[in-house]
Amino acid sequence: MSGPRLVRRTLLAAAATAPLARLAGAGSQPLRLRAAPARVALVGEGWPSTEVWAYDGTVPGPTLRGRQGERLVVEVENGLPEPTTVHWHGLRVPVGMDGVPGSSQPPIPPGGRFRYELPLADAGTFWYHPHVRSAEQVGRGLYGLLVVEEPERWPVDRELALVLDDWRLGPDAVNEARPSPHDAAHAGAYGNTVTVNGRVVERVEVRPGERLRLRLLNAANARIFALRFKGAEPWLVALDGHPLAPRRIEGPLLLAPGQRADLVLDVPAVRLARVDLLDEGDPQGTYRVTSLAVTRNEAPSPAVDRGPPPALPPNPLAEPDLAAAQEHELVLDGGMMATMMRGRAPAARRLPPDPRELRALFARGLFWTINGRAMAEHGHGHEPPLLRLALGRSHRLAILNRTAFPHPIHLHGHAFRVLARDGREEPGRPWRDTVLVAPGERVEVAFVADNPGLWMLHCHVLEHQGSGMMALVEVA
Ligand code: C2O
Ligand code: CU
Repeated sequence: MSGPRLVRRTLLAAAATAPLARLAGAGSQPLRLRAAPARVALVGEGWPSTEVWAYDGTVPGPTLRGRQGERLVVEVENGLPEPTTVHWHGLRVPVGMDGVPGSSQPPIPPGGRFRYELPLADAGTFWYHPHVRSAEQVGRGLYGLLVVEEPERWPVDRELALVLDDWRLGPDAVNEARPSPHDAAHAGAYGNTVTVNGRVVERVEVRPGERLRLRLLNAANARIFALRFKGAEPWLVALDGHPLAPRRIEGPLLLAPGQRADLVLDVPAVRLARVDLLDEGDPQGTYRVTSLAVTRNEAPSPAVDRGPPPALPPNPLAEPDLAAAQEHELVLDGGMMATMMRGRAPAARRLPPDPRELRALFARGLFWTINGRAMAEHGHGHEPPLLRLALGRSHRLAILNRTAFPHPIHLHGHAFRVLARDGREEPGRPWRDTVLVAPGERVEVAFVADNPGLWMLHCHVLEHQGSGMMALVEVA
């Protein structure tokens, strides 16, 4: 097996659950979060540390925890040499708390502070990261998990968060990521070293026979993981924080940048049990991300088949009325090898930007368009919205990818049901906030536009987001 890999260490299970978890309680002090440069041991002891940008000095930043129905108050301090904001990916919050410079708030200047007040409408696995020069700021290590607990305890033995990321490290573990028009116009910036919870990890210690709830997050700028668990048959219980009817995973689990998946995994009740987490999505071949391993040679208790876990309680999302929904189409275009795709994709109603227009955009570092328009990252405050959605109504979006690359499309402020891909119904019609659209594919989603404001819609390959594949959606 080849692929990205340096050297791995053991991560104790306790560490994997993020020791810095902070619970907000009713009436408690606001949580504080400071974004600043730091050095962390990405590769592990015995290797030089890497210069990063981090929340509270750690990558990932502290896991923020709250309970559904509560309000999380987070006071963010900017210790970076440039402006920043924090976006609470997947939380359905008022637009003024969404962390988008221009439409939500002015960016927080160096040395400045901003107080975020976040109502926790939905339980699930969410995350936070900056929304200013995202490729650069998230890529340097600014991200963390945000866990909203269900009101009632859910029956597992233990929770394990696995936050995946990749880095482009040189010898000496120096971060060599640099903005590159080549990356931006292709698949985005892939790294050569994959970390789990901010470390290259040989194995995560687990106990034989225990039932784990895994909270997976892909915090990488561009890498799309295709995960397979060798040695276990986990149940998928939620996507992007939102519960679905538990089902076994068939084939690899695709986890695109920004996406989350909650799984229930029963560690085999055998001596020295080991579950390998493989990524089959790397262009250079399958490699092992890490393993869940029992290292103490204790006799396990007899195996019991626990069967499917109970479904998580659903989140309070308004069900779209498909018969009455207004229809919209989003055509993704641009990038290298785009013309290749023209013949393959079905003809769209809208015209693509003509080649001359595309060349002019390329000259400005904009490689991608949505419905013919490319939005620059600093265009937040000024651009007119690409879509205007009537507040309180059901909407159906068809997203057509006419490029040669996959794009995880993220909508702020809402969750949508994924209805179909190329006319084939999506199993379970899951609720998501980020949907992966393959080259040539047409994906249909639907939702009720019930959160008023000016919301971002963009590709979560951050180099694509930063080079045009971004738009504003007005809900009013
Ligand atoms: Cu996770 Cu607009 O972002
Ligand atoms: Cu993209």
